[in-house]
Amino acid sequence: MARVVYVNGSYRRHGEAHVHVEDRGFQFADAVYEVIEVSSRQLVDATRHLDRLRRSLGELSICEPMSRPAMLHVIGEVVRRNRVTDGLVYMQVSRGATRRDFPYTDKALTPTFVCLARPVSPAIRKAKAQRGLRIVSLPDIRWGRCDIKTVMLLPAVLAKEQALAAGADEAWLVDTDGFVTEGASSNAWIVNADGQLQTRALSPALLAGVTRHTTLDVAAAIGLEVVLQPFTIADAYVSREAFATSASGAVMPIVELDGNAIGSGRPGPVAQALGKSFHKYAQHQDCP
Ligand code: PDD
Repeated sequence: MARVVYVNGSYRRHGEAHVHVEDRGFQFADAVYEVIEVSSRQLVDATRHLDRLRRSLGELSICEPMSRPAMLHVIGEVVRRNRVTDGLVYMQVSRGATRRDFPYTDKALTPTFVCLARPVSPAIRKAKAQRGLRIVSLPDIRWGRCDIKTVMLLPAVLAKEQALAAGADEAWLVDTDGFVTEGASSNAWIVNADGQLQTRALSPALLAGVTRHTTLDVAAAIGLEVVLQPFTIADAYVSREAFATSASGAVMPIVELDGNAIGSGRPGPVAQALGKSFHKYAQHQDCP
């Protein structure tokens, strides 16, 4: 079956979908994105993802490419046309295409809007959660506005490569004070020595993960104590459990950090309980 991509007003075959060579997303990473999970043909937490997309666009003064109902319609079409039952939607909005020049004011730009969807096997995801992730820690070399979900992902790309080269799945990024900011593409959590869930409070240093938000809802609903405080790699070594949250993995237990076993060295009960309940508390919405 041919894959279909939405790009600037039309649905195109994957191999024939293009954006302009002078798109500012291509030249300056002047673009933002979202990744939304599709579960049983439904969008997971779409409201929170589209709220965050709106915020990211607003922080960079990029125009919204279309209304929210129109955007949901496009997402629904892309999911349907690609026959995705379980998988991910990727959407990207750039400031638009124009002659290369750093400033962007005085240019009446039309944002570029691209939407793709692809299946992800729930069985593979489940097997990963049952095995647990291996993590390496690396210095956080990103910019000061990691709360904006931009496509400026080179530090994350390099961190993931280093993680893979070390036989790991993800990297935890550590700030200059020695605290973990977040993962290269996930938020970072521990179950600390006191049994509390611990994750860093929101700030410009990290992305306000939608899965993080819903996981906090799940924690409140099932009566887990949460502390919004940063932690160090040393704290993580003595933690009972660790896990990562993201739209692509929901709640993923972590079993190893820099070659050291975390807790029992197997997926922990708290992370597993959060993972099991996650979809009960997340918003599920039919594709319009
Ligand atoms: N990554 N932190 C970073 C740096 C991320 O890139 C992501 C998501 C998260 C988790 O956010 P959310 O729960 O809203 O997915 C945290 C996506 C999945 C990606 O880039 O593929």
